[in-house]
Amino acid sequence: MNDAKEEIKARLAIEDVISQYVELKRAGRTLKGRSPWGVDKTPSFMVSPEKGIWHDFSANKGGDIFTFIMEVEGISFKEALEKLAAQAGVDIAKYRGGDAEVTKKKVRAREALELATKYYQFALSKSKKVCEYVFYKRNLNRKTVEEFRIGYAPASGKALKTFLKSRGYTEKELETAGLLNRFGGDMFRGRMMVPFIDTDGKIIGYTARIVENQQSASSADALLTQRMSNTSRSATPASSHLTNSQQSFGPKYLNTPDTILFNKSRFIFGLYQAKEAIRRSGFVVIVEGNMDVISSHQAGVKEAVATSGTAMTENHLKILSRLTGDIRLAYDGDEAGVRAAERAIRMAGDLGIELTVISDYQGAKDPDELIQRGAELWQKAVEERKPAVEWLLDKYEEKVDLSTGFGKKEYSTLALGLLEYVKDKIERAHYEEIVAKRLGVSREDLREKGEDLEKKIEEGTRKRFKKAKTEVKGEKLEKLENNLLAIMIFGGVKTKVELEIPEDEVRLGELEMIFEKEYGGWEKAALEKEGEELTKRYKNELNKHEKLKLQAELAVAEEKGDEEEVKILLRKIMAL
Ligand code: UTP
Ligand code: MN
Repeated sequence: MNDAKEEIKARLAIEDVISQYVELKRAGRTLKGRSPWGVDKTPSFMVSPEKGIWHDFSANKGGDIFTFIMEVEGISFKEALEKLAAQAGVDIAKYRGGDAEVTKKKVRAREALELATKYYQFALSKSKKVCEYVFYKRNLNRKTVEEFRIGYAPASGKALKTFLKSRGYTEKELETAGLLNRFGGDMFRGRMMVPFIDTDGKIIGYTARIVENQQSASSADALLTQRMSNTSRSATPASSHLTNSQQSFGPKYLNTPDTILFNKSRFIFGLYQAKEAIRRSGFVVIVEGNMDVISSHQAGVKEAVATSGTAMTENHLKILSRLTGDIRLAYDGDEAGVRAAERAIRMAGDLGIELTVISDYQGAKDPDELIQRGAELWQKAVEERKPAVEWLLDKYEEKVDLSTGFGKKEYSTLALGLLEYVKDKIERAHYEEIVAKRLGVSREDLREKGEDLEKKIEEGTRKRFKKAKTEVKGEKLEKLENNLLAIMIFGGVKTKVELEIPEDEVRLGELEMIFEKEYGGWEKAALEKEGEELTKRYKNELNKHEKLKLQAELAVAEEKGDEEEVKILLRKIMAL
């Protein structure tokens, strides 16, 4: 619909639309008239043809042609759009098609992925080598393989593409579905294929694992591809692509990139298969690997899910918190696991979640490995969990030497930084008690340090921001901003600066005055030159300002010992 709006705006002059309701008189670059809402004594209705905006100072309203018609006629946006489209002679039906087109693309992509999955499933059934890997090396049973729709992508470079093209899919459609690599060949080759299934049971992508010990798979792949293509309506001899025996390479796992169907920051692997169990038992287990999810289901813990190829996001957590408040993180005890748990606690903030951590794998590397030793070990592990805060406090304790003053200082700083995210007073008091006891100090002492820390951080922020403000924002940036806005709104000059056009009467009045005072009587060409000059200076100042602000944030992050944040900020500063 935005395109329709733009086309209508381009075809209609704002003064023509408005003068059907208001008598307009030219006053420099702007047009003036009486408010159509009848509340002014002197002309207070202003139109800027160059900007395509109007402003009514007496009624304190403003906007573009659409908001004008909505206000003056008292109709909805949709009605205003239809009315103005008719005036402009724009056929909005052709824009409505936009949504239908996306829907159609999605349907085609889903169908292609469904067919690709069947192809991969068939390919698996025909490859003895890969079956060995799936059924014996990974210990998956037939039921699991069917439920998760696991398959195999042959190693030959265009096998799937050739097959799907023979079924009427265009190259573009396959690309949209995320099935082609940047050279136009199959995205996935010589890999075990695990589909991403959305909560409706539809396939939206894959995670694909390299198949180990597969030296002789390629010649078998060639044969297979030939056979499958012979059954299709394709006229292309598939064997022509199969001259070399390709070995798969690249990362251990290759995932579908974000497409119109797949969004990794929202997708939760295994949720389709786990939904029922999560509702029934009232908890969810988040594991790190997709294969851990599959093994867990097979081991009878069907509440397991994972985020695929990305760290957990707020979206993931929100989606899960709608299903249950009992969220169990099956995280490694290593540095990355600690970071992930900290992130989760920060994100959980106000979601009212009970976050716990499962991490006793008895020396196993991940849930999958534990399950290989015995399903019951994993079943027991998901029951023996620890509140995430407690788990982290334990991790901090392992990191420092609590018998020394320095160790106590470090531990208390880390602990207090964590407890900041525990919103409930009683829960927080509980942890404060634990921490104080470990330190051998009173809760008051701990509180005091907490307050000191907070004050220090606050002061640091304030001081640095103040410095940043007086040094840069100061009058310089404000003045540049005023002059730019003035010549943009009242001089009709277009600039490359992204400044919000103010709508309030006082501010606009102020800018108009500035315009008259500083640029009254200037030629258009001179104004444009001034616009360019101001833009350059403004951007420069803005950059300086941004840098100082980031430096202030960096100092705070350093004080807090938030290494992750420090790294992010440093990268941003360097990019400026
Ligand atoms: P792991 O390497 O721990 O995988 O990565 P895993 O699940 O134990 O794999 P197996 O058991 O060796 O098959 C954990 C997760 O990180 C992502 C995947 O989502 C994986 O499940 N990952 C890992 C990738 O996206 N790409 C990679 O190359 C490796
Ligand atoms: Mn594993």
